[in-house]
Amino acid sequence: MELIDGNKISAEIREKIKEEVSQLEKKPGLAVVLVGENPASKVYVNMKEVKCREVGIQSFKYELDKDIPEEELLKLIEKLNNDETVNGILVQMPVPKQISDTKVINTIIPEKDVDGFHPVNMGNLFTGNNSLVSCTPKGIITLIESTGTDISGKHAVVIGRSNIVGKPVSTLLLQKNATVTICHSRTQNMAEICKTADILVAAVGRPKLVTADMVKEGAVVIDVGVNRVDDDSEKGYHLEGDVDFENVKGKCSHITPVPGGVGPMTIASLLENTLTAYKMQNNLK
Ligand code: GUN
Repeated sequence: MELIDGNKISAEIREKIKEEVSQLEKKPGLAVVLVGENPASKVYVNMKEVKCREVGIQSFKYELDKDIPEEELLKLIEKLNNDETVNGILVQMPVPKQISDTKVINTIIPEKDVDGFHPVNMGNLFTGNNSLVSCTPKGIITLIESTGTDISGKHAVVIGRSNIVGKPVSTLLLQKNATVTICHSRTQNMAEICKTADILVAAVGRPKLVTADMVKEGAVVIDVGVNRVDDDSEKGYHLEGDVDFENVKGKCSHITPVPGGVGPMTIASLLENTLTAYKMQNNLK
Protein backbone atom coordinates (compact mmCIF):
# COMPACT_ATOMS: atom_id res chain seq x y z
CA MET A 1 0.00 0.00 0.00
CA GLU A 2 1.15 3.51 -0.80
CA LEU A 3 -0.03 6.57 1.04
CA ILE A 4 -1.29 9.42 -1.17
CA ASP A 5 0.38 12.47 0.33
CA GLY A 6 -2.06 15.37 -0.06
CA ASN A 7 0.26 17.72 1.83
CA LYS A 8 3.10 17.14 -0.63
CA ILE A 9 0.98 17.27 -3.79
CA SER A 10 -0.86 20.39 -2.66
CA ALA A 11 2.43 22.10 -1.73
CA GLU A 12 3.67 21.55 -5.31
CA ILE A 13 0.48 23.10 -6.72
CA ARG A 14 0.73 26.06 -4.35
CA GLU A 15 4.35 26.62 -5.35
CA LYS A 16 3.31 26.83 -9.02
CA ILE A 17 0.51 29.27 -8.17
CA LYS A 18 2.90 31.43 -6.14
CA GLU A 19 5.27 31.61 -9.09
CA GLU A 20 2.45 32.55 -11.49
CA VAL A 21 0.96 35.13 -9.10
CA SER A 22 4.37 36.79 -8.69
CA GLN A 23 4.33 37.57 -12.44
CA LEU A 24 0.97 39.34 -12.33
CA GLU A 25 0.55 43.11 -12.43
CA LYS A 26 -1.91 43.20 -9.54
CA LYS A 27 -2.67 40.67 -6.82
CA PRO A 28 -5.70 38.39 -7.21
CA GLY A 29 -8.20 38.82 -4.34
CA LEU A 30 -10.39 36.26 -2.58
CA ALA A 31 -13.24 37.18 -0.24
CA VAL A 32 -14.02 34.51 2.35
CA VAL A 33 -17.24 34.87 4.32
CA LEU A 34 -17.89 32.99 7.54
CA VAL A 35 -21.30 33.21 9.18
CA GLY A 36 -21.53 32.03 12.77
CA GLU A 37 -19.29 30.05 15.06
CA ASN A 38 -19.02 26.56 13.59
CA PRO A 39 -15.60 25.48 14.96
CA ALA A 40 -14.67 23.33 11.95
CA SER A 41 -15.64 26.14 9.55
CA LYS A 42 -13.49 28.59 11.54
CA VAL A 43 -10.47 26.31 11.17
CA TYR A 44 -11.08 25.93 7.40
CA VAL A 45 -11.54 29.66 6.85
CA ASN A 46 -8.39 30.54 8.80
CA MET A 47 -6.44 27.97 6.83
CA LYS A 48 -7.74 29.40 3.56
CA GLU A 49 -6.56 32.86 4.65
CA VAL A 50 -3.07 31.64 5.58
CA LYS A 51 -2.64 29.72 2.32
CA CYS A 52 -3.83 32.70 0.25
CA ARG A 53 -1.19 34.92 1.82
CA GLU A 54 1.53 32.34 1.24
CA VAL A 55 0.97 32.39 -2.53
CA GLY A 56 0.44 36.16 -2.79
CA ILE A 57 -3.35 36.15 -3.12
CA GLN A 58 -5.03 38.92 -1.15
CA SER A 59 -7.57 37.57 1.31
CA PHE A 60 -10.55 39.57 2.52
CA LYS A 61 -12.15 37.86 5.50
CA TYR A 62 -15.69 38.64 6.67
CA GLU A 63 -16.84 37.14 9.98
CA LEU A 64 -20.56 37.67 10.44
CA ASP A 65 -22.81 37.11 13.42
CA LYS A 66 -24.72 33.82 13.42
CA ASP A 67 -28.02 35.74 13.59
CA ILE A 68 -27.37 38.02 10.62
CA PRO A 69 -30.50 38.36 8.44
CA GLU A 70 -30.27 36.69 5.03
CA GLU A 71 -30.80 40.04 3.30
CA GLU A 72 -27.66 41.51 4.83
CA LEU A 73 -25.52 38.62 3.69
CA LEU A 74 -26.94 38.86 0.17
CA LYS A 75 -26.18 42.61 0.17
CA LEU A 76 -22.58 41.92 1.14
CA ILE A 77 -22.29 39.38 -1.69
CA GLU A 78 -23.63 41.93 -4.16
CA LYS A 79 -21.08 44.46 -2.94
CA LEU A 80 -18.31 41.89 -3.43
CA ASN A 81 -19.70 41.03 -6.90
CA ASN A 82 -19.10 44.67 -7.86
CA ASP A 83 -15.72 45.06 -6.15
CA GLU A 84 -12.93 44.93 -8.72
CA THR A 85 -10.29 43.95 -6.17
CA VAL A 86 -12.26 40.77 -5.42
CA ASN A 87 -11.85 38.03 -8.04
CA GLY A 88 -13.33 35.18 -6.02
CA ILE A 89 -16.07 34.90 -3.41
CA LEU A 90 -16.52 32.01 -1.04
CA VAL A 91 -19.21 31.69 1.62
CA GLN A 92 -18.25 28.87 3.96
CA MET A 93 -20.95 26.21 4.20
CA PRO A 94 -23.01 25.30 6.14
CA VAL A 95 -24.76 28.63 6.81
CA PRO A 96 -27.20 29.12 9.76
CA LYS A 97 -30.78 28.05 9.18
CA GLN A 98 -32.31 31.53 8.66
CA ILE A 99 -30.20 31.75 5.49
CA SER A 100 -30.94 29.82 2.31
CA ASP A 101 -27.73 28.31 0.94
CA THR A 102 -29.34 28.18 -2.52
CA LYS A 103 -29.96 31.94 -2.45
CA VAL A 104 -26.38 32.56 -1.30
CA ILE A 105 -24.97 30.41 -4.09
CA ASN A 106 -27.22 31.95 -6.74
CA THR A 107 -26.30 35.50 -5.68
CA ILE A 108 -22.55 35.09 -6.24
CA ILE A 109 -21.87 35.89 -9.91
CA PRO A 110 -20.65 32.74 -11.73
CA GLU A 111 -17.41 34.52 -12.75
CA LYS A 112 -16.45 34.90 -9.06
CA ASP A 113 -17.86 31.58 -7.86
CA VAL A 114 -14.55 29.93 -6.93
CA ASP A 115 -16.47 27.13 -5.18
CA GLY A 116 -18.07 26.12 -8.48
CA PHE A 117 -21.43 25.83 -6.70
CA HIS A 118 -23.45 28.22 -8.91
CA PRO A 119 -25.93 26.45 -11.23
CA VAL A 120 -24.14 27.96 -14.25
CA ASN A 121 -20.82 26.43 -13.19
CA MET A 122 -22.50 23.17 -12.17
CA GLY A 123 -24.25 23.11 -15.55
CA ASN A 124 -20.99 23.76 -17.37
CA LEU A 125 -19.41 20.92 -15.44
CA PHE A 126 -22.28 18.64 -16.43
CA THR A 127 -21.91 19.46 -20.13
CA GLY A 128 -18.12 19.23 -20.02
CA ASN A 129 -17.36 22.95 -20.43
CA ASN A 130 -15.49 23.16 -17.17
CA SER A 131 -14.41 26.57 -15.96
CA LEU A 132 -14.69 26.87 -12.19
CA VAL A 133 -15.00 23.35 -10.78
CA SER A 134 -15.74 22.69 -7.09
CA CYS A 135 -12.57 22.47 -5.10
CA THR A 136 -12.72 19.12 -3.32
CA PRO A 137 -13.74 17.13 -6.45
CA LYS A 138 -11.00 18.79 -8.48
CA GLY A 139 -8.45 17.93 -5.78
CA ILE A 140 -9.65 14.32 -5.65
CA ILE A 141 -9.02 13.82 -9.37
CA THR A 142 -5.51 15.23 -8.99
CA LEU A 143 -4.87 12.79 -6.12
CA ILE A 144 -6.11 9.78 -8.11
CA GLU A 145 -4.01 10.75 -11.13
CA SER A 146 -0.96 11.27 -8.92
CA THR A 147 -0.93 7.51 -8.29
CA GLY A 148 -0.39 6.84 -12.02
CA THR A 149 -3.84 5.22 -12.24
CA ASP A 150 -5.50 5.63 -15.64
CA ILE A 151 -9.09 6.45 -14.72
CA SER A 152 -10.43 5.57 -18.19
CA GLY A 153 -12.51 2.40 -18.20
CA LYS A 154 -12.20 1.82 -14.46
CA HIS A 155 -15.15 1.26 -12.16
CA ALA A 156 -15.34 4.24 -9.82
CA VAL A 157 -17.72 4.03 -6.89
CA VAL A 158 -18.60 7.25 -5.08
CA ILE A 159 -20.32 6.98 -1.71
CA GLY A 160 -22.30 10.17 -1.11
CA ARG A 161 -24.39 12.37 -3.39
CA SER A 162 -23.85 15.88 -2.01
CA ASN A 163 -23.72 18.90 -4.30
CA ILE A 164 -20.33 19.81 -2.80
CA VAL A 165 -18.55 16.49 -3.38
CA GLY A 166 -20.52 13.40 -4.47
CA LYS A 167 -22.28 14.75 -7.56
CA PRO A 168 -19.43 16.84 -8.99
CA VAL A 169 -16.73 14.22 -8.38
CA SER A 170 -18.92 11.59 -10.08
CA THR A 171 -19.26 13.94 -13.07
CA LEU A 172 -15.50 14.51 -13.25
CA LEU A 173 -14.82 10.76 -13.07
CA LEU A 174 -17.32 10.24 -15.89
CA GLN A 175 -15.53 12.92 -17.95
CA LYS A 176 -12.36 10.90 -17.43
CA ASN A 177 -14.20 7.89 -18.89
CA ALA A 178 -14.69 5.92 -15.69
CA THR A 179 -17.80 3.78 -15.27
CA VAL A 180 -19.36 5.53 -12.29
CA THR A 181 -21.69 4.21 -9.60
CA ILE A 182 -23.06 6.55 -6.93
CA CYS A 183 -24.03 4.96 -3.61
CA HIS A 184 -25.99 6.73 -0.88
CA SER A 185 -28.02 6.18 2.27
CA ARG A 186 -30.79 4.29 0.42
CA THR A 187 -28.45 2.07 -1.60
CA GLN A 188 -29.08 -1.63 -1.17
CA ASN A 189 -26.09 -4.01 -1.10
CA MET A 190 -23.60 -1.15 -0.81
CA ALA A 191 -20.83 -3.47 0.38
CA GLU A 192 -21.05 -5.64 -2.76
CA ILE A 193 -21.03 -2.60 -5.04
CA CYS A 194 -18.02 -1.07 -3.29
CA LYS A 195 -16.22 -4.38 -3.53
CA THR A 196 -16.23 -4.05 -7.34
CA ALA A 197 -14.64 -0.57 -7.28
CA ASP A 198 -11.22 0.03 -8.81
CA ILE A 199 -11.50 3.56 -7.43
CA LEU A 200 -13.49 4.13 -4.24
CA VAL A 201 -14.36 7.65 -3.07
CA ALA A 202 -16.01 7.93 0.34
CA ALA A 203 -17.75 11.26 0.99
CA VAL A 204 -20.55 10.72 3.48
CA GLY A 205 -19.39 12.01 6.85
CA ARG A 206 -19.76 8.73 8.74
CA PRO A 207 -16.66 7.60 10.65
CA LYS A 208 -15.23 4.27 9.48
CA LEU A 209 -18.20 3.49 7.22
CA VAL A 210 -15.93 1.76 4.71
CA THR A 211 -14.58 -1.43 6.20
CA ALA A 212 -11.97 -3.82 4.79
CA ASP A 213 -14.57 -6.31 3.51
CA MET A 214 -15.97 -3.56 1.22
CA VAL A 215 -12.69 -2.93 -0.56
CA LYS A 216 -11.34 -4.77 -3.59
CA GLU A 217 -7.71 -5.92 -3.48
CA GLY A 218 -5.56 -3.23 -5.15
CA ALA A 219 -8.20 -0.48 -5.22
CA VAL A 220 -7.41 3.24 -4.98
CA VAL A 221 -9.24 4.61 -1.94
CA ILE A 222 -9.99 8.31 -1.44
CA ASP A 223 -11.31 9.31 1.97
CA VAL A 224 -13.12 12.66 1.98
CA GLY A 225 -14.54 12.31 5.51
CA VAL A 226 -13.42 14.63 8.27
CA ASN A 227 -15.41 13.46 11.28
CA ARG A 228 -14.90 14.83 14.77
CA VAL A 229 -15.12 11.90 17.16
CA ASP A 230 -15.23 12.67 20.89
CA ASP A 231 -12.53 11.15 23.08
CA ASP A 232 -10.69 11.68 26.40
CA SER A 233 -7.79 13.61 24.86
CA GLU A 234 -6.94 17.20 25.77
CA LYS A 235 -8.79 18.51 22.73
CA GLY A 236 -11.79 16.35 23.54
CA TYR A 237 -11.96 14.87 20.03
CA HIS A 238 -9.93 13.42 17.20
CA LEU A 239 -10.50 13.33 13.46
CA GLU A 240 -11.60 10.17 11.70
CA GLY A 241 -12.23 9.58 8.02
CA ASP A 242 -15.12 7.71 6.39
CA VAL A 243 -12.72 4.81 5.84
CA ASP A 244 -11.49 2.39 8.49
CA PHE A 245 -7.92 3.26 7.55
CA GLU A 246 -6.05 0.77 9.75
CA ASN A 247 -7.93 -2.22 8.38
CA VAL A 248 -8.35 -1.06 4.78
CA LYS A 249 -4.76 0.03 4.19
CA GLY A 250 -3.52 -3.55 3.84
CA LYS A 251 -5.93 -4.22 0.99
CA CYS A 252 -5.71 -1.23 -1.32
CA SER A 253 -2.93 -0.11 -3.64
CA HIS A 254 -3.21 3.57 -2.61
CA ILE A 255 -5.09 5.40 0.13
CA THR A 256 -5.42 8.97 1.42
CA PRO A 257 -4.86 9.61 5.14
CA VAL A 258 -7.11 11.84 7.29
CA PRO A 259 -5.86 14.46 7.89
CA GLY A 260 -3.28 15.13 5.18
CA GLY A 261 -5.11 13.66 2.20
CA VAL A 262 -8.03 15.41 0.53
CA GLY A 263 -8.19 18.43 2.90
CA PRO A 264 -5.07 20.28 1.71
CA MET A 265 -6.08 19.62 -1.92
CA THR A 266 -9.37 21.47 -1.43
CA ILE A 267 -7.44 24.60 -0.49
CA ALA A 268 -4.95 24.20 -3.36
CA SER A 269 -7.91 23.93 -5.79
CA LEU A 270 -9.46 27.04 -4.27
CA LEU A 271 -6.26 29.00 -4.93
CA GLU A 272 -6.16 27.60 -8.49
CA ASN A 273 -9.77 28.67 -9.03
CA THR A 274 -9.06 32.16 -7.68
CA LEU A 275 -6.21 32.51 -10.16
CA THR A 276 -8.43 31.17 -12.98
CA ALA A 277 -11.18 33.66 -12.04
CA TYR A 278 -8.62 36.50 -12.00
CA LYS A 279 -7.38 35.52 -15.45
CA MET A 280 -10.92 35.23 -16.87
CA GLN A 281 -11.81 38.64 -15.47
CA ASN A 282 -8.65 40.21 -16.88
CA ASN A 283 -8.84 38.43 -20.26
CA LEU A 284 -5.57 36.59 -19.61
CA LYS A 285 -4.85 33.01 -20.69
N1 GUN B 1 -17.94 23.43 3.42
C1 GUN B 1 -17.34 22.23 3.26
N2 GUN B 1 -16.64 22.21 2.10
C2 GUN B 1 -16.79 23.43 1.54
C3 GUN B 1 -16.29 24.01 0.34
O1 GUN B 1 -15.58 23.41 -0.46
N3 GUN B 1 -16.67 25.31 0.13
C4 GUN B 1 -17.47 26.00 0.97
N4 GUN B 1 -17.79 27.25 0.66
N5 GUN B 1 -17.96 25.47 2.09
C5 GUN B 1 -17.60 24.20 2.37
